[in-house]
Amino acid sequence: MAKKNVSMPLDKSKMPKHVAFIMDGNGRWAKKRGLPRKFGHAEGAKTFRKILRYCKSIGIEYVSFYAFSTENWKRPQDEVNAIMNLFRDYLKDLENFLAEECRAVFIGDKSIFDEDIRLSMEDFERRTAHCDKMTMLLAVNYGGRDEIVNAARILAQKVQDSEMTVSDINEETVNSQLYTACAPDVDLMIRPSGEQRISNFLLWQSAYAEFYYTDVLWPDFSPKHLDAAIEEFSNRKRRFGGI
Ligand code: IPE
Ligand code: IPE
Ligand code: MG
Repeated sequence: MAKKNVSMPLDKSKMPKHVAFIMDGNGRWAKKRGLPRKFGHAEGAKTFRKILRYCKSIGIEYVSFYAFSTENWKRPQDEVNAIMNLFRDYLKDLENFLAEECRAVFIGDKSIFDEDIRLSMEDFERRTAHCDKMTMLLAVNYGGRDEIVNAARILAQKVQDSEMTVSDINEETVNSQLYTACAPDVDLMIRPSGEQRISNFLLWQSAYAEFYYTDVLWPDFSPKHLDAAIEEFSNRKRRFGGI
C-alpha cells in the first residue's frame, strides 16, 4: 500500500463538525523561558486567534475554546488580573469577527465578571449573532458541572411554575438549557500540554467525543498540529455504542 502523504488535503467528509480545545500549558511555556506566567497567557491568546482563523479556513463549523474555568479563580490574583485584561483586549476585536463572519458565544457563568467585561461580551454576542460562517464558543468562568447544575435549576423552576412537568425532563430539554444549546455535541476534543484529563470542560457535550492529546504547549500549538489531530480523528472508528 502506498505510504500515506501527511500533507494531503483534509478529507472534508471526515471533518469534525465541532472541535473543542483545552488551551493548556501557557504557564509552563513561560516558565521554560524564564518569564512570568502572564507572558504565556498573552502568547496563548495569540495562538487562540491563529487557530480560530485556521479552523474557519478549513471549514470547521463549531469551535470551542476553554479559556478560564470555574476553578481557575484559585490562582494568584495578579495572574487572574492578567487574564481578565487579556479578555478586555480581545473583546475589542469585534470588527474582525464581523469581517470574518464568525459568531461568538461566551459559555459559562458570566454574572461573576466585572460589568464592563460582561456588557462587552453581551454586545459581542448580539452583534455577531447573524454571522453564519462559523460559531466560536469561548468558555469563560466555565465549569461542566456548574453548567449542568444551572440547567437543572432552570428546569426545576419551570416545573415549579407549571411551565412543564417532570416527565418533560429528558436529554433534549436538559441540552436546551446548557450554555452550548446552539451547538452540536463535540466531535473532537484536543488537549495540548501533556495532561490527559478533561478538567471539567464540556462534560455533557463530549459524551462521545474523540480525545486527542499532545505534549505541545498551547502557545506552540499550530495549524500543523491541528491537521495531525484531524487526520487521526478521520481514522478513528466511532461507534456511539453500536457495533
Ligand atoms: C491554561 O494554561 C490557561 C488557563 C488555565 C487560564 P495554564 O495557565 O494552566 O498553564 P500551565 O498548565 O500552568 O502550564
Ligand atoms: C484547564 O486547565 C482550564 C483551561 C485551560 C482554561 P487547568 O490548567 O486549569 O487544568 P488542571 O488544573 O491542570 O486540571
Ligand atoms: Mg494548566
